[in-house]
Amino acid sequence: MYCFLRLTLLLSVTIVSVGSPTEKSPAAFFIFGDSVVDVGNNNYIETIPEFKANYAPYGRNSFFNRPTGRFNDGRLMVDFIAEYAKLPLIPPFMQPSAQFTNGANFASGGAGVLPDTSQGLVINFQAQLKQFEEVSGMFIKELGEERARAIIEDAVYFISIGSNDYIIGYLSHEKNREAYTPEEFIGMVIGNFTQSIQELYEKGARKFYILSIADLGCLPAFRAINPKADGGCFKDASALALAHNQALSAVLTSFEYIHKDFKSTTTNSPVGNFSTENVMNGFSADTSPPLSENGSGIKGKDTTEMHSSHSNNDAAHSSDNLNEFSDSFVHWVTNGETLCF
Ligand SMILES: *[C@@H]1O[C@H](CO)[C@@H](O)[C@H](O)[C@H]1NC(C)=O
Ligand SMILES: *[C@@H]1O[C@H](CO)[C@@H](O)[C@H](O)[C@H]1NC(C)=O
Ligand SMILES: *[C@@H]1O[C@H](CO)[C@@H](O)[C@H](O)[C@H]1NC(C)=O
Repeated sequence: MYCFLRLTLLLSVTIVSVGSPTEKSPAAFFIFGDSVVDVGNNNYIETIPEFKANYAPYGRNSFFNRPTGRFNDGRLMVDFIAEYAKLPLIPPFMQPSAQFTNGANFASGGAGVLPDTSQGLVINFQAQLKQFEEVSGMFIKELGEERARAIIEDAVYFISIGSNDYIIGYLSHEKNREAYTPEEFIGMVIGNFTQSIQELYEKGARKFYILSIADLGCLPAFRAINPKADGGCFKDASALALAHNQALSAVLTSFEYIHKDFKSTTTNSPVGNFSTENVMNGFSADTSPPLSENGSGIKGKDTTEMHSSHSNNDAAHSSDNLNEFSDSFVHWVTNGETLCF
């Protein structure tokens, strides 16, 4: 078991405010990435149905009771984090006239680290960084250089990205599989990811919370195309994910040595690992294609009665319930306890 004491540093400003008479305002919260954390940015772009979640049955959970653009039946991990940090829900950057006082969410379903992943259909990671620069510029204009800088340095940067590079850019991309060995492809993804983190650091970001990518081979969609056809995990896909996560950890560790005030922690994806039992129980991967005919990926016996007892909301996303599950770590964050896994 490995314990992260460092995690308590992440939302330390918030920790102070819990039950403390000297209330400080919570740290701002900036979110980058893919569908795991997209709270509706893709509602505002032209893309394919697979990359949108603004239609039923998404959003059925009683919290919103309507589709919001979240790839989920309710709230996402980042919504729970905001709640526990006593922040309002962090709005999507693309939402007209949204207020970014407490942060902004730039995530775009389908996006990857590499600009080629889902090219033209998403707000890619580079574009998300540009949008962050816009928000940062707004802060400077409104609050002055010094205060803006303090807010940027104090903020928490949450990143969930990489799965799509492997799912869309490699495993289902024959040309790339021919052009690159798995090692080479992972090297490109990690190389570009490292550059982006460096860029954010140069823009003032200090506290990073990075979600590991899911065990891809165990996602229902990949169990379904497992050549072994036994409902088990697809080993080649899992290997990519595990190698990526390992390489990313090494990069983050080296950043901490090089940049004294750089802080990061990683945690497992809320999309985590679906047990065979869960997959068979309502979202039977081996009897359905990875994506439904209309592209939502929602399928299975219970399409009409999707509720939180299912671990996965569609072929690749978790339900509100599972995200709440992962909020145990948010408790750790806000209560200043250690995170062990
Ligand atoms: C970033 O990805 C591109 C391919 O999109 C690759 O050519 C380049 O070498 C990568 N950069 C790094 C630093 O790995
Ligand atoms: C996920 O679950 C499968 C069994 O369903 C197991 O083989 C695999 O090792 C698990 N992966 C992780 C990362 O725990
Ligand atoms: C796909 O969309 C069509 C037209 O809207 C609809 O008739 C059909 O039932 C949908 N299929 C699924 C699986 O949702």
